[in-house]
Amino acid sequence: MHSFAADNYLFVLSSRLLLIVVLFGYTLAGCFSACSDPEPAKEPPKRDYIKRIAGANDSIPVAAAQRGEVLIAYADCYTCHALEHRAKGPAFKDIAARYPVNKGYISLLAQRIILGGSGAWGNPVMTPHPALSKADAELMVSYILSLK
Ligand code: HEC
Repeated sequence: MHSFAADNYLFVLSSRLLLIVVLFGYTLAGCFSACSDPEPAKEPPKRDYIKRIAGANDSIPVAAAQRGEVLIAYADCYTCHALEHRAKGPAFKDIAARYPVNKGYISLLAQRIILGGSGAWGNPVMTPHPALSKADAELMVSYILSLK
């Protein structure tokens, strides 16, 4: 039942397959030579330049910081933030380094989390979190500022 057309079809198919295998091989070889680079250029993790805002620091109750840490873990914060380096948003440690710990700043930053923010750290925008209560947002800020 081998017709010429079927043989021809098989030939085209197998030569295409060969092409794919060869191309894949090249890609792989390219990766190996790049990956076995003896000294891969390591970019240092990005941090923001911090302009520390002057002000007295109150102490943060440990329980508040711990509750804030849990709330943050269950929210979407880590899609844009990391502890140590800039992602879409500033590093939590950089936020801690900028703001003094007191009621005024805790309230201000909680408000920014709820309403969303931009301009304080550059162009990217923090989406608002309207479902968040002010009290929970303040606990989150307590955790962030405890990272000093
Ligand atoms: C869509 C990305 C995104 C998400 C999600 C996000 N952030 Fe942000 N966040 C940002 C960006 C971008 C900034 C910087 C805004 C600016 O420049 O004013 C920021 C800034 C902040 C600041 C500092 C605000 C200021 O005015 O200095 C705090 C505090 C903060 N985020 C906490 C949180 C917390 C807590 C959550 C989770 C509830 C969260 N963020 C979720 C992107 C995000």
